[in-house]
Amino acid sequence: MFEVGPTGLMDPAVYRSEAFYAAELEWVFGGSWMFVAHERWLPEPGDFVAETIGLEPVVVVRGADGGLRAFANVCPHRASLLVEGRGNCGRRLVCPYHGWTYELDGRLTGIPRRSLFATPLDPSQLGLTELRLDAWEGLVFVNVSGDAPELLDYLEDIPELLGGHDIAGMGLGASLDDPIAANWKLVMDNAICDYHLSIVHEGSIAALVDLDGLTEQAGVTTAVAAVPWRESELPAEPRPGLAGKAARGSLGCYVFPNLHVIGFPTGGATVMWWTPTSHTTTRARVLSLSHDADDDVRAGTELLSRVQREDFDVCERMQRGVQSAHYRPGPRHDAELRVTVFQRRLLEMVGSVLAPADPSGASELTGVAR
Ligand code: FES
Ligand SMILES: [Fe+2]
Repeated sequence: MFEVGPTGLMDPAVYRSEAFYAAELEWVFGGSWMFVAHERWLPEPGDFVAETIGLEPVVVVRGADGGLRAFANVCPHRASLLVEGRGNCGRRLVCPYHGWTYELDGRLTGIPRRSLFATPLDPSQLGLTELRLDAWEGLVFVNVSGDAPELLDYLEDIPELLGGHDIAGMGLGASLDDPIAANWKLVMDNAICDYHLSIVHEGSIAALVDLDGLTEQAGVTTAVAAVPWRESELPAEPRPGLAGKAARGSLGCYVFPNLHVIGFPTGGATVMWWTPTSHTTTRARVLSLSHDADDDVRAGTELLSRVQREDFDVCERMQRGVQSAHYRPGPRHDAELRVTVFQRRLLEMVGSVLAPADPSGASELTGVAR
């Protein structure tokens, strides 16, 4: 089994390996609670969002009863995807291949030319496979494997820390969707690294906050950084509902494996999530939420775009760097505590199914990757 090494950082082979990546798709993404949608994207019956979680095509759909359900987005007849992207499917999900028809609760109720099947069909055995779904503050999560802890337990201290922000009550703001030419783990390492802020973001984030006052806390599935803002950047009066660190700065709340929810003292929040598109490319998505007017959201989005570009550049530099045969993980800084939460859980989930051939630590993955 792979271990987090004495430096606290991972063997560079895991960033290069397609075999490791394949295991991640199944075990890490399949086994975790994955953010897939904001409830406000699906206000009406028939509204759906299709996503791929690891290897599994998934659809979240608003039912006729108003409830949200998640299904494997695959037709039980010949495995066609039922829907793609976002949209409204009307009163039923109809497979585009042979027209089998499913109610919004997954029951199969329509089979064209049914009398010509060789054996009698039992529609009750041919409905869609329902997946585990839960929501917190309007954010909808799906757990494909069905065996992750309860969502509220999985989120550890975050519901309490962000409770005063009323994220569920915020309006939807701008969203971003960008490609990055880097392995998703390098992107995550950077997203929750609190050591680079004063260097990479010197003219953006660092100008607004007091980095000397930054504190981190680590859980098992989550890690939080509290970043105090400079007095000049804070509202004259704390926003209603916010107190303590939530009123004095940002709370950057990481949820394993690929979600970062940041609550701001000005009454907004940013939801960021990163999805691998191959073992060397990643899709970066951002959703801005706010209690305030559009102008504030726009200003925040401009800053966010700048910060994203600063981060993408270093991620793509690291991607090229981890190809080097001469790279060994360097020492861990205290402000990289959140990175170790990500890496430790990832290695627990993947390392147990992809054991190294060589106990010296020079894993067979190195051979796979080169
Ligand atoms: S694959 Fe869906 S009806 Fe045949
Ligand atoms: Fe950054």
